[in-house]
Amino acid sequence: MSKRKIVSMPGDGIGQTVLPEAIRVLDAAGFDAEYIHADIGWEFWCTQGNPLPQRTLDLLAEHKLGLFGAITSKPRTEAAAELDPALRDKGYVYYSPIVAMRQHFNLDVSIRPCQTFAGNPLNFVRRGADGGMDEPAVDAVIFRQNTEGLYGGVEWTNPPQQVYDALMTHPKMKNFADVPKEDLAISTRIFTRPATERIVRQAFEYAKKFGYKSVTVCEKPNVLRETSGMMLALAKDVQREYPDIDLWNTNIDAQMMWLTKNPENYGVIVAGNMFGDIISDGFAGLVGGLGFACSANIGADVAVFEPTHGSAPKYADYPTPIVNPIAMVLSACMMLDHIGETAIAERIRAAVAAVVAEGKVRTYDMMKMRGAPDVVEKGAASTMQMTDAIIAKL
Ligand code: NAI
Ligand code: MG
Repeated sequence: MSKRKIVSMPGDGIGQTVLPEAIRVLDAAGFDAEYIHADIGWEFWCTQGNPLPQRTLDLLAEHKLGLFGAITSKPRTEAAAELDPALRDKGYVYYSPIVAMRQHFNLDVSIRPCQTFAGNPLNFVRRGADGGMDEPAVDAVIFRQNTEGLYGGVEWTNPPQQVYDALMTHPKMKNFADVPKEDLAISTRIFTRPATERIVRQAFEYAKKFGYKSVTVCEKPNVLRETSGMMLALAKDVQREYPDIDLWNTNIDAQMMWLTKNPENYGVIVAGNMFGDIISDGFAGLVGGLGFACSANIGADVAVFEPTHGSAPKYADYPTPIVNPIAMVLSACMMLDHIGETAIAERIRAAVAAVVAEGKVRTYDMMKMRGAPDVVEKGAASTMQMTDAIIAKL
């Protein structure tokens, strides 16, 4: 059989640091693949007017699997100022290449596991009734709808007359009738039945496959009756096919409060785009934050795996890289799970767990240091030392 080919998109800043480290771990674990480099990010915006070149889309369409590091994004005016002068005033407009990639391939299912590694100094601790501290083991997996809802991009300031007139047919719009049209900013929240059903079904399938006892719909159906209401109603229908899995229903605001009360009670959580974004960061904060937060973007055809963190430009040029590669390594494990290489994924996760539990090798974030070039002198592990420690445990 020919070697599996994986599109490697390091992107910008620390994406270029952590992605090669993840590949080093994959190689050491015996995963046999060929990595095909693909361009993405700021440099290609500045020099070519496109942060997500067609050749990268073509490679992903061909090979179906991508590992992505991170990109640098800047507001449109700043982006325009950094464009190659030869390309200016030619109609190039900056957009986020990762959002564009999710939309281009309809990577509509985002999976963000938030699992405690024992011994991580960044783990959430809570005071018990007796005044003592306990450290609940969190194992929550967030399923976030990745393409619609409040991030669908259908929005206006000073909406066109047709849109305004259509909105005015809604009885509740009367509350805004006195506001001039130019003073209205409107962002829509569109849920479609197929995409909502797909994310809900994927959540239940995952719960069944990995033995979680509940799926929680984390939305706000009492207020957002149409959109959250649709997700909850679909979840009730789908749940009938999974009699062994309980369906829970929480509101996003209350869930953020309960997060630090009983996070260990939650299993699989499913939410729309924005609430999924919020709740996944909330849970990630309980298990180590950005240095540990991994994710998958899965479509019907293509899947891309990435750490949740960005390009952290202020750390990108350190002579000795200091950032934690674990989020990227765990994202690579999600890729292995996706293609059925679960044994290798489990070995890598066990190696990460062993390094964290042992506590001898810790990057600066795990030592609660401020990121600076001298953290390694002060006892923090460098990025490469952390990778080496994981590989040694393999
Ligand atoms: P960021 O995630 O890049 O960094 C925030 C802070 O988190 C860093 O300064 C650092 O203290 C810490 N951090 C991040 N990754 C870490 C790691 N692996 N180990 C240890 N500490 C880590 O977010 P920020 O500063 O808001 O954005 C920087 C750039 O990244 C921006 O241009 C932003 O648009 C972009 N971005 C890209 C994302 C992506 O590619 N998916 C996601 C988020 C931001
Ligand atoms: Mg986010």
